Amino acid sequence: MPKSHFMLEYNLFLRVIADIVDGMGVRDLFSYFRLPTLRYKSASANEENMDRPYATEKPHLESWLGHSKNTITFHIPILGDVVNNYVKLFSPPDDYQETWSNPINDFLIGEEVASKYIAADIKIQPGNLYLFEAVSLYATVRTPDAGGRISTEMMGLLKDEADIEEFEVGEKTRELDYLITPDSLLKIGREVLFGPRNSLSGAIEKKVDLEIGDNLYSLIQN
Ligand SMILES: [Fe+2]
Repeated sequence: MPKSHFMLEYNLFLRVIADIVDGMGVRDLFSYFRLPTLRYKSASANEENMDRPYATEKPHLESWLGHSKNTITFHIPILGDVVNNYVKLFSPPDDYQETWSNPINDFLIGEEVASKYIAADIKIQPGNLYLFEAVSLYATVRTPDAGGRISTEMMGLLKDEADIEEFEVGEKTRELDYLITPDSLLKIGREVLFGPRNSLSGAIEKKVDLEIGDNLYSLIQN
């Protein structure tokens, strides 16, 4: 999450992302969005990070982290070496089974499942937006001479099938997501500002708050 001194810039960034979502005409398909992040992926993988159970360089499904299976990820490569430092996407095979996408404690546990996925014939290009499901496999990949890149990612929870209760209480589900409705997202940077509350750094994600009320973050009416 952004630091408090970048709040104005972050709000402008949110406004741009909201415009993109709205321009796609998909607003009504989603019940909630997780606020987008702007990410820097360094030129090479940090060895220490590679040992982490959820290292993004290991092929994984977002649902393995505990994200709802009804989650769609929006991925936008923006700046830098987005061609050699990219997200590799894989499709599930025809015999995909629901249990494959249950949460796990380490992406390595899913290696066998991951090996069944089929590399998608997609070459990530700047200026494009990529959508993939929480049960699609992907990994951060870098060629040996890759440079750093900046990209953005946002998750949306699909309507109808999306069950917020289930999303919130599952044993392994993400507890620290900040979810916002599509309508609220579209107001940010226009009618309201998104800002930290009761926190100096604002660098903390907070639990689901449907009312956007008493929270570390809140929408501040002007
Ligand atoms: Fe991931």
